[in-house]
Amino acid sequence: MLKGFVFDLDGVITDTARYHYEAWKHVAQEEAGITINESVNEQLKGLSRMDSLETILKFGHKENRYTDTEKAVMASEKNDYYLKLIKNMTPKDILPGMKDFLKALHEAGYRASIASASKNAPTIIDRLGLTTSFDGIVDPSLLKKGKPDPEIFERAAELLQFDNSEVVGLEDASAGIAGINAAGQFSVGIGDKTILKDADLIFPSTADVDLKAIEKAFNDQNN
Ligand code: BG6
Ligand code: MG
Repeated sequence: MLKGFVFDLDGVITDTARYHYEAWKHVAQEEAGITINESVNEQLKGLSRMDSLETILKFGHKENRYTDTEKAVMASEKNDYYLKLIKNMTPKDILPGMKDFLKALHEAGYRASIASASKNAPTIIDRLGLTTSFDGIVDPSLLKKGKPDPEIFERAAELLQFDNSEVVGLEDASAGIAGINAAGQFSVGIGDKTILKDADLIFPSTADVDLKAIEKAFNDQNN
């Protein structure tokens, strides 16, 4: 029986993906002379800060060039740049349809938690005015492995005290869909169906996300 929803944040509730991209583009160019493009950015979605940096350095064939201290400095510079970009976020930055979707699922008696790789998630949720919409936020610093590992989604279901089979996970990244599937949760992809092809159900955009359609697809799969 469906009881709850586990949400990715960046690209699902708000469009911070473009800020992450802008910040990495700046730091990769300035600090490592690496020019990243949209296709590299697609691979970064859902990855932790350090895993994102490693992916960028590998793309630029510089994976063995820097010490751990130098990499920590680059990651911290990226975060400083990112924090400046998100400074003026407000509830207006909630992606189309998501506020109504959250309202609908609460009215229907479901509970929700956040499974975001971002250490900035609590700040962003607060700026969006959504703190009371979630019953828990997974702390990514306590995880052994990041997405596509299922751990973050399993923790998010635990926060709700639900079994993995009782929750739906929503994601915009293929690494996230892989994690939701590996956790044994029902996966909902939001975005390009060629990228999110492994999701149990796909909506082209957040504005299309529909509670009744999710309930139907979930029940069809579980009956
Ligand atoms: C994820 C984003 O939600 O959070 C990634 O999709 C990002 O792009 C990751 O790297 C970590 O975010 P932060 O805010 O901890 O650097
Ligand atoms: Mg995302």
